[in-house]
Amino acid sequence: MSRQRNKEKRLARPFYLTNKSMKVKVFESLEIAQQAIPLLGIKTVHFKSRDLKVALARTATGFYAVADACPHMKASFGKGFCNQFDEIICPLHEYRFSLHTGVEGSGQGCDDVAIFPVVIDETGLYIELP
Ligand code: FES
Repeated sequence: MSRQRNKEKRLARPFYLTNKSMKVKVFESLEIAQQAIPLLGIKTVHFKSRDLKVALARTATGFYAVADACPHMKASFGKGFCNQFDEIICPLHEYRFSLHTGVEGSGQGCDDVAIFPVVIDETGLYIELP
């Protein structure tokens, strides 16, 4: 196997941060991520090994990851949308949540949504899972 293929294979595996959390590659590069998710778009990423769905959102300030289940009634954010204030909006009742903090900003008194760090470097776009 060539050295390049060995490197690609190594990068495709999850990188463990601690005993419990791990950094998982979602896209091979920022450019590929930008092609896959348009500005103010959202893509649901399913991590089957953890039975976890994450909504990966793109705004003018970057990429953000939140749990893909609205804290109100569990609608998928993947079918929702983002706004220019870095908020993700649920498609069902349109509650808004900060992509930076997960705090609900509609004044409905809803629980916050879990957020996950997004890391972008020269090897790709990663989401850090708990
Ligand atoms: S299910 Fe998301 S706001 Fe109601």
